[in-house]
Amino acid sequence: MTAAYPTLDDHLAGQDVPEALKVVVAAIATECVAIAGVVRLGGLAGALGLAGTANVQDEEQKKLDVMTNDMLTERLKACQPVAAVGSEEMDLIEPTGRTGGYLVTFDPLDGSSNIDINAPVGTIFSILPAPEGRAPVEADFLIGGRKQVGAGYAVYGAQTMLVLTLSGGVTGFTLDAQGRWHLTNPDIVVPADTKEFAINMSNRRHWAPAVRAYIDDCLAGKTGPRGKDFNMRWVAAMVADVHRVLMRGGVFLYPWDQREPDRPGKLRLLYEGAPMALLIERAGGKATTDGVTPILDVIPRNLHERCAVALGSANEIDAYAGTPAGNDLRQV
Ligand code: F6P
Repeated sequence: MTAAYPTLDDHLAGQDVPEALKVVVAAIATECVAIAGVVRLGGLAGALGLAGTANVQDEEQKKLDVMTNDMLTERLKACQPVAAVGSEEMDLIEPTGRTGGYLVTFDPLDGSSNIDINAPVGTIFSILPAPEGRAPVEADFLIGGRKQVGAGYAVYGAQTMLVLTLSGGVTGFTLDAQGRWHLTNPDIVVPADTKEFAINMSNRRHWAPAVRAYIDDCLAGKTGPRGKDFNMRWVAAMVADVHRVLMRGGVFLYPWDQREPDRPGKLRLLYEGAPMALLIERAGGKATTDGVTPILDVIPRNLHERCAVALGSANEIDAYAGTPAGNDLRQV
């Protein structure tokens, strides 16, 4: 039944990128198969509930956060072309003792509050070039999303899918029952127009006025200034919400809000914002902090830097940026 689709190995063989980069992608994809197995078993694999620890960002860790972080870290540390890794669950970067090759950052289990309710979760990754001839340090990770040589995610949902960009466009693979990835979506393109937005509406009172104005205009529907009815979706796992945007268009918004005015946003730049931005831009969409500033142009100051996120269908991101209430979609 799956014979008609090329495998991930077939696809990688045809890519005009260094062999070492293909080895890194293959290692991540293989570990995502293992993670999919643990996610699928849930309580049977002892994977539900809290770990009883907090990460460096003071967030409660789920058992599955810890398990998947260990799994991917071990896999990448054993992967020859990887010089260092960094993740949401690590205090500091972890060098492998090798030089050259690649740096990988990842969120091993995005949307982990979904795990206990059997809703979609995912793994997000970003690959950067490592410095030659010396051990990498954290500053080597802080070079901006444009320098990514590859990015992607696995989403563990109704189907388990891997979505990837290397040198060209965005491709999607579906996992079969034997643990092989098949190229089911060879050229993912985000439609320029949409009538669907994703935002955590419960934060409305905390947003900047322009964000409230944009959403209010959408909610006003056909008789409002936008002249069309909008639909809203919120899975509460960035990986699943962005996957929907890649599959059928839409905008995904996680803006700055006034509860923590000194923080640009909730989401993390290196292993959430930047890899998703590369995928969205390569698929023809726009990925910004405020409707205008490309996420890929933001230079992080540390491994766990935060960013505001407004990404998705290009014309709708322009509408977000052009909200008449002014250009105060962010705090600065
Ligand atoms: O990583 C943070 C995250 O879980 C994202 O995956 C998701 O989009 C967001 O937080 C959900 O936020 P909230 O708790 O506001 O719904």
